[in-house]
Amino acid sequence: MPAGRRTIAVIGAGNVGATCAFALAERKLGNIVMLDIFEGFAKGKALDMSQAGQILNYDGVITGTSSYEDIAGADVVVVTSGFPRQPGMTREDLISKNAGIISEVGNGIREYAPDSIVIVVTNPLDLMTYHMWKTTGFPAERVVGQAGILDSARMTHFIAEAVGVSNEDVQAMVLGGHGDTMVPLPRYTTVSGIPITQLLDDETIRSIGERTAGGGGEIVKLLERGSAFYAPGSAAAIMAEAVLEDRKRLLPCSAYLNGEYGMNDVYIGVPVVLGKNGVERIVELDLEDSELESLQASGSFYKTQLTDVLNYGA
Ligand code: NAI
Ligand code: 2OP
Repeated sequence: MPAGRRTIAVIGAGNVGATCAFALAERKLGNIVMLDIFEGFAKGKALDMSQAGQILNYDGVITGTSSYEDIAGADVVVVTSGFPRQPGMTREDLISKNAGIISEVGNGIREYAPDSIVIVVTNPLDLMTYHMWKTTGFPAERVVGQAGILDSARMTHFIAEAVGVSNEDVQAMVLGGHGDTMVPLPRYTTVSGIPITQLLDDETIRSIGERTAGGGGEIVKLLERGSAFYAPGSAAAIMAEAVLEDRKRLLPCSAYLNGEYGMNDVYIGVPVVLGKNGVERIVELDLEDSELESLQASGSFYKTQLTDVLNYGA
C-alpha cells in the first residue's frame, strides 16, 4: 500500500459496506480495505471498484480481505457487518445475531486499529454502537453511530418533494434512537433558512415525520429482501470524510451521553461536531418540553434494552 495515504477499513462488504466504500473511493479519501467473512466477496468487490477508478477518475488502493492484519493502522473503521432486517422484523429483532458479530469485529479493531475512529452502522444501531464502545474499550468520542444523517436525509427528501424544491435546500434534524422512537424536529427544519412551518401545514409536517420514522421499514417492505443501502452507505462515508478531513461537521449521530439532555450511559442520536478526534462536541439544543420528553423516552427505551437484553449494568 503506498505510504502516506490514509487507510479506511470497511467491515462487511455487503450492500451498505460496498456502497460506503464506493462513495469513499469517489471522494478520494485514502486507501480502502473491505473486510468480510467471505473473502472472495470482499476481494471481488474491491477489484470491481478498483477497475471503476479509470472511468470515474479515482486512484488509490481498494483491497478485500477476511483477515484483521490487513486493517492494521486504519485511521477510520466503518462497521457494517451484520444481518439486515427482513419484512416484518424490527431492528431490535437483530440484537442477538448482530451482538456476536460486533464482539468479534470489536476485538479485531482493538487489536489491529487501536487508534482508529469507529463508525458503527450495524443494527440495532444505538445498541450496537454502545456494544462496540464496550468491546473496544476506546474513549467514547472515538466510537460513533450512523443513523441521524440517514433519518434526516429521508425527512429532507420528503420535504423537498412536498415543497417542490431541491433536496439541497432543505435542512432537517432527526434525533433519538434509530427506530420507532426517533424524534423528527420540525422546529429545527428549514428550507434555505425558512422554517417549514411557513411552507407546509401541520398535517403535512406530521405525516412527513411519521413517514420518516417508518422510512427504513418502507424500503424493507418494497425490497422484500434486505434493507436500504444507498443512503445509509453514503451517510457513513460522509461521517468518515468529516473525521479524515477534520471538517468539524455538525451532524446528528449516535453519541455517548454523559448528562447531556438529562441522560447518562446510553448511545442515542444527538447533534455532534465530527472532526479528527471523532465526536468533538455534543450540541445541546434548546428543546421544548414535549421534544425533550420524546428524546428521553427514546433514550430510556434503549437503556432498558441495554440492561435487559445485552445485560449491561444489570
Ligand atoms: P448485507 O447482508 O448486505 O451485508 C452484511 C455483510 O456483513 C455480509 O457481506 C456478511 O458476510 C458480512 N458479515 C457478517 N458477519 C461478519 C463478520 N463476523 N465479520 C465480517 N463480516 C461479516 O447487509 P447490509 O444491507 O449491508 O446491512 C448491514 C447492517 O447495516 C445490517 O445490520 C443493517 O440492519 C444495518 N443498517 C443500518 C443502517 C443505519 O442507518 N444504521 C441503515 C441500513 C442498514
Ligand atoms: C434503515 O433505516 C434498515 O436501519 C435501516 O434503512
